Amino acid sequence: MPLQLPPDFATRPTPFYLYDLDLLRRTLRAAQQAAQPRDIHVHYALKANANEPVLALVREHGFGADCVSGNEVQRALEAGFAPEHVVFAGVGKSDAEINRALAADIWCFNVESGEELVVLNELAGAQNRKARVALRLNPNVDARTHHYITTGLSANKFGIGMPELAAVTDLLPALPHVELVGLHVHIGSQITDLAVFETLCHRVNELQLWFEHRGFVLPHLNVGGGLGVNYQQPDEQLIPDFEAYFSIFERLLKRRLGQQVHVELGRSLVAQCGTLVSRVLYLKESQQTRFAILDAGLTELIRPALYQSFHLIENLSSQGPEQLYDVVGPICESSDTFGRQVPLPETKRGDLVVLRTAGAYGEVMASRYNLRDLAPAVYV
Ligand code: LLP
Repeated sequence: MPLQLPPDFATRPTPFYLYDLDLLRRTLRAAQQAAQPRDIHVHYALKANANEPVLALVREHGFGADCVSGNEVQRALEAGFAPEHVVFAGVGKSDAEINRALAADIWCFNVESGEELVVLNELAGAQNRKARVALRLNPNVDARTHHYITTGLSANKFGIGMPELAAVTDLLPALPHVELVGLHVHIGSQITDLAVFETLCHRVNELQLWFEHRGFVLPHLNVGGGLGVNYQQPDEQLIPDFEAYFSIFERLLKRRLGQQVHVELGRSLVAQCGTLVSRVLYLKESQQTRFAILDAGLTELIRPALYQSFHLIENLSSQGPEQLYDVVGPICESSDTFGRQVPLPETKRGDLVVLRTAGAYGEVMASRYNLRDLAPAVYV
């Protein structure tokens, strides 16, 4: 499907983020059509993209909100998510953030340590409330993705490890202001090998037995997010295979009668609908390399610099035989490189160049380094 451009794209100042809301709608519908019949609830991970028009559509499609900061909780509530559909996760929640979420009476806190559980109990008590909690466990399952976005190995800072779990659950009887309502795991992001989720299901089944043997009942299981997207050939797969993903949990999770299953998808819902649009400022040749210097850089899209991640680069202004370019940004860092030896048609100053699949972890991770302006968002 060709990229949907705004009518005035040729004259619009660059760089900007372009969002295709029709594609977003179709993606959300596909996810819901795969999740609902299996009675699986999706909480959208706001960290992937928290723009208001995006959140409005996510909410209209019946998703909840998975938040990792007090400001995300506030943004979700402002966007109209009901407090009973809001979850607050994160390895380092401040007292002020916890207090705001308690006051809003959100549905659940995903708690990552014994110390956090004790603090939450104290703060909830001071507000005369009882906080619902899910314990985030570190299942030690390898997501087989980039090590910066692997979160479920015992070497990672996330979750409660098996050696500490008994000590944490032993605290619960003495904490009257917290109520255990489930368990939570999240092992990483951009997972393209679906067998990883099968392993995760087996592990969650074991963990559930661990709790049951100790007399705990778990009203819900939250298996986190992480479904990957096709960065290499976005047009081949604009909408991820949600059927294949959800059917794994349907088949393999040993769900108890009446138990809810939650997932927290971010990237797979919003990545493909976003594109970073930029212009070529200059061409420059060194002895070995032809550089195309864009007016967008790592301040707009940091993923290539941070994770060596691939975004498909296309020149919308030119056609014809291809040459190889190193496509770079204007920032004073050599890591400000979007791609090396990228085949593009002959490229010249002023050409519009786009970076595809930038809807997730793009705009939200923008910075003002070099005192640059933040790129605006445009919706079609
Ligand atoms: N739940 C938890 C607890 C998470 O930590 C994350 C993502 C998600 C859900 C959503 O995962 P998703 O479905 O989007 O994979 N900035 C990195 C990705 C960081 C992901 C952090 N956690 C990137 O650009 O690749």
